[in-house]
Amino acid sequence: VVYVASSTAPVNIATLKYWGKRDKILNLPTNSSISVTLCQDDLRTLTTASTSDLFENDQLWLNGEIHSLTSERTIMCLNDLRMLRKRLEDNDPLLPKISTWKLHIVSENNFPTAAGLASSAAGFAALISSISKLYQLPQSASELSKIARKGSGSACRSLFGGYVAWEMGELDNGEDSKAVEVAPKSHWPEMKACILVVSDHKKDVPSTSGMQLTVNTSDLFQYRIKQVVPNRFIEMKNSIIEKNFEKFAELTIKDSNSFHSVCLDSYPPIFYLNDTSKMIIKLINYLNEKNGKLIAAYTFDAGPNAVIYYLEEHESEVLGLLYKIFNKVKIGWENYKNLNKLSNFDNIAELETFDEIYKGVSRIILTQIGDGPMETEEC
Ligand code: DP6
Repeated sequence: VVYVASSTAPVNIATLKYWGKRDKILNLPTNSSISVTLCQDDLRTLTTASTSDLFENDQLWLNGEIHSLTSERTIMCLNDLRMLRKRLEDNDPLLPKISTWKLHIVSENNFPTAAGLASSAAGFAALISSISKLYQLPQSASELSKIARKGSGSACRSLFGGYVAWEMGELDNGEDSKAVEVAPKSHWPEMKACILVVSDHKKDVPSTSGMQLTVNTSDLFQYRIKQVVPNRFIEMKNSIIEKNFEKFAELTIKDSNSFHSVCLDSYPPIFYLNDTSKMIIKLINYLNEKNGKLIAAYTFDAGPNAVIYYLEEHESEVLGLLYKIFNKVKIGWENYKNLNKLSNFDNIAELETFDEIYKGVSRIILTQIGDGPMETEEC
């Protein structure tokens, strides 16, 4: 007998960053965080999980390549899911006893892993969703997010669509460290996102070791987690609930800056932004200043890629400027239908300073806010 289930899960990009663990094994964070889930048509992982009494080992295929299932984080997730299934089986003698059978897992991204985008978040979220479907687990997305968190902290937020908070929790066992919905995507459908892929290389310092170094060596980090983030967490949630883009943008920009500051304050310092990233920051500042208000927000994770958030009503100005600068970047614009409606940024002398940044950007992903994991028939 073989049982099979498939699920897709989306990428999420933090607007209030998770950076620092109070427990490395359970991935318990030193601060709460907030993210926006991106559209799955553009950025998602599809995972098919199957189980059979004939399988000899647990096995994992990632983008067509077989991987040995030795990662402690993955094993911890599988153990948790098996335990929940076992509990169901113990309570219902009619259920097939599949919790002891081996699992075969096939996982694929529809975006290049090397693009430096948060593939581990979508990956663990898809793993948890597909197996929870296979095991027919009744647990809520928040409950499942605690398992995804053990795989990769940020993965817990990919169990929801729209606007998501990861509440850090206080307990040592992590039972209160989980993701919750702040608002569904339908609450603020005007929100758009654009990713400027600056590097196709793997990150310099992986986030797990990078955040550990920051926790152990940065003085500024203590200030961030104690004096800055707790208020910002509340304010950012409110800005989403109230649909106050200017506030949301200000907090997003400040938190990206704060996160990269504690990276620089680590010893030895960690640099995730490169010269292209810095030019993008200047460009977005220029755009906001020119408009007399914040119409775009940038954020950078543990790498040089920029994610820009903006509202549909400002698409013409935001994409107009990006097109003016990055029209030579051939990957990304080809599916965009409204090029003729973009604001014209010709003849603006100030823009000459940005002439060269397009060289550092390899592709542009125009996307919007998306749903959480979805069951699918694809296998
Ligand atoms: C900068 O979730 O990749 O993207 O828990 O060690 O797997 P681990 O770290 P990970 O860190 C993400 C860091 C970040 C900020 C964020 O997504 O909140």
